[in-house]
Amino acid sequence: MLHPRSKTAALLTIPALALMSRAAPTFSPILPPSYPLAVKNPYLSAWLPGNQAADLAAATPQFWTGQDITWSILVRVDGTLYSLFGALPQSSGVKPAITNTADYTSTHTTFGLTAGDAEITLDFMTPVSPINYVRQSLPMSYLTISVSRNADTTPSVQVYTDIDNSWISPPNTDTPTNWSYAFSAADTHILTLTAQDQSEYSEVKDVAQWGTLAYCTRPYGSNVSAKAGSMPDMHKEFGTTGSLNGDSEWGPESVIALSHDLGRLDDRKNVTFAIGQWRQPVVNYLGNDRASYFASQCRSVECACVHALTDFEATDAKARALDAQIADKAVRVAGKNYSDIVTLSVRQAFAALEVTIPVDILDTDDVLAFVKEISSNGNVNTVDVLYPISLIFYVLAPEYIRITLEPMLRYLGAGRWPLNYTLHDLGSHYPNATGHDDGIAEPMPVEECGNLLILIYMYEKATGKTNLRFTYSILLQQYAEYLVENGLYPSSQLSTDDGAGEEANQTSLAIKAAIALNAYGVMTGQQKFLDTGRHFAQVLYDERVGVDANQTHFLLVHNDDDSWALQFNLYMDVLLDLRTFSTSALRMQTEFYATKHDEAGVALDNRVNWSKTDWMVFAAATAMAPEVENEGIRDMFVNDIHRYITNGKNDVPFGDRYVVRDDDVVEAGTWSAYRARPVVGGHFALMALDGPASIWVGDH
Ligand SMILES: *[C@@H]1O[C@H](CO)[C@@H](O)[C@H](O)[C@H]1NC(C)=O
Ligand SMILES: *[C@@H]1O[C@H](CO)[C@@H](O)[C@H](O)[C@H]1NC(C)=O
Ligand SMILES: *[C@@H]1O[C@H](CO)[C@@H](O)[C@H](O)[C@H]1NC(C)=O
Ligand SMILES: *[C@@H]1O[C@H](CO)[C@@H](O)[C@H](O)[C@H]1NC(C)=O
Ligand SMILES: *[C@@H]1O[C@H](CO)[C@@H](O)[C@H](O)[C@H]1NC(C)=O
Ligand SMILES: *[C@@H]1O[C@H](CO)[C@@H](O)[C@H](O)[C@H]1NC(C)=O
Ligand SMILES: *[C@@H]1O[C@H](CO)[C@@H](O)[C@H](O)[C@H]1NC(C)=O
Ligand SMILES: *[C@@H]1O[C@H](CO)[C@@H](O)[C@H](O)[C@H]1NC(C)=O
Ligand SMILES: *[C@@H]1O[C@H](CO)[C@@H](O)[C@H](O)[C@H]1NC(C)=O
Repeated sequence: MLHPRSKTAALLTIPALALMSRAAPTFSPILPPSYPLAVKNPYLSAWLPGNQAADLAAATPQFWTGQDITWSILVRVDGTLYSLFGALPQSSGVKPAITNTADYTSTHTTFGLTAGDAEITLDFMTPVSPINYVRQSLPMSYLTISVSRNADTTPSVQVYTDIDNSWISPPNTDTPTNWSYAFSAADTHILTLTAQDQSEYSEVKDVAQWGTLAYCTRPYGSNVSAKAGSMPDMHKEFGTTGSLNGDSEWGPESVIALSHDLGRLDDRKNVTFAIGQWRQPVVNYLGNDRASYFASQCRSVECACVHALTDFEATDAKARALDAQIADKAVRVAGKNYSDIVTLSVRQAFAALEVTIPVDILDTDDVLAFVKEISSNGNVNTVDVLYPISLIFYVLAPEYIRITLEPMLRYLGAGRWPLNYTLHDLGSHYPNATGHDDGIAEPMPVEECGNLLILIYMYEKATGKTNLRFTYSILLQQYAEYLVENGLYPSSQLSTDDGAGEEANQTSLAIKAAIALNAYGVMTGQQKFLDTGRHFAQVLYDERVGVDANQTHFLLVHNDDDSWALQFNLYMDVLLDLRTFSTSALRMQTEFYATKHDEAGVALDNRVNWSKTDWMVFAAATAMAPEVENEGIRDMFVNDIHRYITNGKNDVPFGDRYVVRDDDVVEAGTWSAYRARPVVGGHFALMALDGPASIWVGDH
């Protein structure tokens, strides 16, 4: 690695002219660690590392794991061929287009480039349509190439784009692949790639081993051509003729490509592509196949392509409205830095999830959503992952709290889980939601019992619906009893932050138990639980079991006065207005954080030198409790996260865990172990204080 000083020296040797002829690109609102491109579900997850965004022509997009994928985009302007994206200029006669801008919103990543006399916008859009299950479950994202002229000429313009089987093939393998081309309804041109070896519900390096990858478009006053062949040959042919003609050939290193001849450019012209992966079924739920909800509309990938392109304009209009509302509200709640964080989190949070219906009868009244615990371990519907994600659900579509919890509640209700505390997850690896009938799963008894009761109360408060509580009343009562017995002095066990290790008497678990019991008591009108929850709080705070002798902070471990932690579990007490803990307890803890601020933030607890961005926002939101209202502490947390995602040290999809203190190995501000996880939905915790469903996401 170059020392920063030698980097500067190297730059100075570049001729001054070259530096001046090309303004540096602008990044709006910030240059993030990684841009979402097509980020729709656990297997359709294409990103561009931020450190490649200044020269898009030479960029290489990646699967969320970091595996390179092929996605090239070229334009031909008056016979000159330019690379816009993902095509190294080495391929014959290709000039690099100049990158001018890179922007993102909640649902769009937009790049602006110049190629000769043409100005090009590459608009990568992934709709987030929580209330419209059809749109949300469509396994596709969009690319719109928009071209306008920058001079008085009317250049002749053609655009081209290709992909290959790196999207469906794990790294370093050349999966034998079938390709197909279909010309379907509404003049839709559809290219597909299907691995010859199909293995339902299997992954290799997180890549789905079943299904069909599709890339499709239709004419927009343009002439479309489509072909399969070797990438250099295709680039050359397009560069020479401006279209793709003749016979396709498929072999190793081949691509499937689509091109549009836009003719002479007098005005702005847009062409849209849909890209996606068609898998049916999508999830194995206890031996029953679940299809994507979208299967209620389409039974084939061709139909999905036609549907996607037909629905594009309406989808895009809704997505832009959502973008504006989220950004606007985030700014109002906690400023522009906060908006930069949440808008980067939206696609990532929803892309870990698939909305499903039963394959056999496609009953659209039987909707269940499945969530992959991406990056950390691949578990299905992990309860302590649903806990932070639920905040984006609470703000945008609280019904998701039910459709993500119900798969596990049904399983527990059927009596298949043998232990008397609740389960951590519904399956060791997505997409096998096959339960743990043997009773063997990561044990987090107090954490998950507390989470379940809190989430059900949260759902009820947000929607007014009592159906979950009544249907699963016996189970919930059992978990509440469990917390009464085991919640105040938890035995040695893990908490959600399992990476930090086991500990007995974890104060944050006791806090969670107190809040969960209070919530359960309020929800069911059982005074006993309400009293127990408040009693726990009194022991922890007033009797100082969970705070130091001088009452300056809550502890990591009861009675260990030197220990401390980020007490994110206090947040739900504020959100749900339960008042289990007094204002003075919340104020004490909030003021304490300022004394533990390290180089790049407040650590999770005194054992570790990393922190978690979701829990940091929980702590920031707790600081906004009534009569605490400490904007300084709120902004400290928000700005720490902001600094982390803008410090130039990271090139992965939003990593929710990062190092806050330099050590021998890593620098403060560097991501740690986790990337692309859905828990970034927890960044909505501050917005959630404004109430449930407080952003209008559309009428259907
Ligand atoms: C064309 O695409 C650009 C970039 O996505 C967008 O701003 C513009 O509204 C689109 N125009 C039309 C007519 O769809
Ligand atoms: C691939 O193509 C071959 C030859 O047409 C066909 O027999 C096979 O079923 C195809 N495999 C898949 C998975 O589509
Ligand atoms: C899901 O279960 C099937 C059948 O046991 C297995 O072949 C497959 O590898 C599993 N998938 C994952 C991702 O573990
Ligand atoms: C499309 O092809 C037709 C027939 O060759 C031609 O007349 C027309 O000008 C082309 N349109 C564009 C936009 O290139
Ligand atoms: C779990 O349930 C069993 C039998 O129902 C009971 O004997 C035991 O005390 C319970 N354990 C805890 C920790 O509540
Ligand atoms: C937990 O704390 C209580 C009260 O201080 C104590 O009696 C108990 O021994 C502790 N449990 C463990 C496992 O350390
Ligand atoms: C607790 O407060 C007292 C009185 O202010 C002070 O003398 C003592 O040093 C404090 N203890 C600790 C551990 O900070
Ligand atoms: C926003 O965050 C940056 C760190 O990325 C910080 O320098 C700046 O002061 C923050 N802005 C505001 C208004 O707090
Ligand atoms: C940071 O954590 C790592 C892993 O636990 C440890 O090896 C290292 O010593 C820690 N560094 C500091 C400065 O605490």
